[in-house]
Amino acid sequence: MSGIVGYIGWQNAIPILIDTLKRLEYRGYDSTGIAVIKDSSLGIRKRVGNIDVLKESLYNEPLNGMNGIGHTRWATHGKPTEENAHPHIAGKIAIVHNGIIENYLSLKESLLKEGRKFLSDTDTEVIAHLIDKNFTGNLENAVQKTLKEISGTYAIVAISPADPEKIVIARNENPIVIGLGRGEFFIASDASAILSYVKDIIFLDDGEIAVIKKEGVQVYDKNNRQVEKNIRRLGLNPILMEKGGYKHFILKEIFEQPRAIWDTVRGRVSGGDIIFEDFKLTDLDIKNIKKVFITGCGTSWHAGLIGKFMIEGISRIPVEVDISSELRYRNPIINSDTLIIAISESGETVDTIAAMRNGKKNGAKTVSICNTIESSLSRESGSTINIHAGPEISVASTKTFTSSLSALYILSVYLAKLKGVINDNETAGLINDIVAVMGKIEDVMGLEEEIEGLSKMFYEKKGFLYLGRGINYPVALEGAMKMKELSYIYAEGYPGGEMKHGPIALIDEHTPVIILAPKNSLYEKSLIDIEEVKARNGVVIVFATEGDTEVMKRARHVLYVPHASEYLFPIIMSIPLQFLAYYVALRRGLNVDRPRNLAKSVTVE
Ligand code: G6P
Repeated sequence: MSGIVGYIGWQNAIPILIDTLKRLEYRGYDSTGIAVIKDSSLGIRKRVGNIDVLKESLYNEPLNGMNGIGHTRWATHGKPTEENAHPHIAGKIAIVHNGIIENYLSLKESLLKEGRKFLSDTDTEVIAHLIDKNFTGNLENAVQKTLKEISGTYAIVAISPADPEKIVIARNENPIVIGLGRGEFFIASDASAILSYVKDIIFLDDGEIAVIKKEGVQVYDKNNRQVEKNIRRLGLNPILMEKGGYKHFILKEIFEQPRAIWDTVRGRVSGGDIIFEDFKLTDLDIKNIKKVFITGCGTSWHAGLIGKFMIEGISRIPVEVDISSELRYRNPIINSDTLIIAISESGETVDTIAAMRNGKKNGAKTVSICNTIESSLSRESGSTINIHAGPEISVASTKTFTSSLSALYILSVYLAKLKGVINDNETAGLINDIVAVMGKIEDVMGLEEEIEGLSKMFYEKKGFLYLGRGINYPVALEGAMKMKELSYIYAEGYPGGEMKHGPIALIDEHTPVIILAPKNSLYEKSLIDIEEVKARNGVVIVFATEGDTEVMKRARHVLYVPHASEYLFPIIMSIPLQFLAYYVALRRGLNVDRPRNLAKSVTVE
C-alpha cells in the first residue's frame, strides 16, 4: 500500500513532491522518500517517519531537479526502515511502487544468482532490478518487458538518469492518475493530491503504461498499442481539504456531518419522492432482485451491517452482509437475481473491489456507494451512488460513515417503492423521516462539550465495552472501532443480549460500558443490559432518547440524543461516539488524524 507521486515540468520538483505526498499521507506514513534527476544524475533522500521528517532533512540539505518521484509508505514487506523505504534504486533506475508483487521471492532468487545485490526486504526492489536488467536505453521498453515477468498488484512510477526526459508509470489494480498542466505533469495515487495544481486528469486503467514527458503524455495498453484516454475535469474544491480553523481534520469532519448528509440526500429526494438518476438498474431489474449482498471493510462494513436492517425492514429483500476479504474467498450463491452493494469511502480498497468483481462474474447486478468520484470501484460497478461527503482526510472515517448510512436509507426506500412494497404515502413518510433527522443533527453537535467532560473520567481506562441491540449493535461496533483506532484503548462492541455469554466476565468497577438505549422496539431489553452491568459494578454510560426519564433512574451517566426513526437512529447515535473517541485520544496526547499503523485506503491484501 502507500501513496506515490511524480512530477515532470519546469519547476523544482521537490516542493511539489513534498506537498503532494503530504496530501497522500493518509495512505501510510511510516517512512517516506523521494528521488530526482538533475544533470543526468540521481538525488535520493529517504527517512523513517512521516513527510515532515523528510521535509526537514531536505531543508537542511536541499536537493533539486525538475523530474522526480516520491513515496509515503505503509509497510507490507519489510519493517519501516530507511533501507525499505522507497524509492528503490537498481543501477540506473529509481522506482516507487504501491501494491504487492506476488512472485518476488522466486524473481529475487534468480536475480541474486545473477549477482545482483539487494539492499532491502521489499518486493519492490525486485521490480527496480528487473527494469535495470531490461534497460537498453529506453525506459518504457524496459518497464513493458518487466511487467510481463511480475505478477501481483501495482502502481509503479519509474525514472532513469540514463533516459532522463521522462517518467514512466504503469498500473495493475492499484490506482494512479496523471494531472495535466501546461508543460508540466503531476502523478499521484489519488486525484485529490494534485487538485490544487490541475483540474484535468487522466485515470490509468489496469494493464496500461504511460510515458510522460514535458511535451505530453502517451498511454499504451499491455499489447503496446497506443490508447486514446478521456480527460476528466474534476470539480473538487481544494479548500475542502484544509482544516478550516479546526484543530484537527477529524473534528472538522465530525462537524461537517450535517452538510455531508444533506449533500448525500439532496438531489435524490424531491416532493415526497425519490429520484435516483445514478442508479442505472431498470425497474424490471429491481423487481427481479431476490437477494442483496452488502460488502465492505472496516467502517464501510459496519455501514453495511446497518444497511441490512434498512433494506430487509423497508424493502423486504433478504440481505447478507460480508466483510469483503471473506466474501471474495468464499463461494456464495450469487446469480443474476442478486444485487451486490459494495461500500467504500475510497473506492480503492482491494478486497472490496475483488468481492464486487466476483459477484459481477456470477452475473450479479452491482452498485457501489463511494465518496471518491472516479474511483476504481465506482468505475467498475454497474452503478455508483456518490455520497458527496467531500474529501475525508482523517484516517478514521466519520462523515463518510453517516453519509453512507443516508445513502443506504434512501436506496432502501427506492427499492421498496419500485418493488411495490410501500405506497406513495409510505414513501413520503420515510423521506420525511430523513429530512427530520437532518434538522436534528446540528443539535447532536451540541453534545461536544458534555462528552469532552466525560472523556476526563475515562481516558485512562484500559478497556471499553459498547453494547447495542438490533440496528444499534453495528453502531456499537463502529463506536468501539473509533475508540480503538483513535485512542489505542481496547474496545469491544457486542450485541446487548449476547453480553452475558462472554464479555460479562470483563465487567468490573474499572470497565466503562457504553450502552445504546434509544426508545425503540428493543428499549426494554436495553434496560436489562443496564441492570446486568450495574449488578457487576460496571461503570454504565447510557446514550438515550431525549425525554427518557426512566433511564436516568438507572444510570449515573446519561447522554441524551434527539429522537429519530428506528432506521435512522444510527446516524444520530454515531456522532457522540465519534466525539468520545476523539476526546479520549486527545487527552492521551495521540495523533488523532493519523493513528499509528493505520492507513485510510488499503490497496493491498
Ligand atoms: C481502512 C481505514 C478504515 C476504513 C477501511 C475501508 O482500514 O483505516 O477507516 O473503514 O479502510 O475503507 P474504504 O475506503 O473501503 O471505506
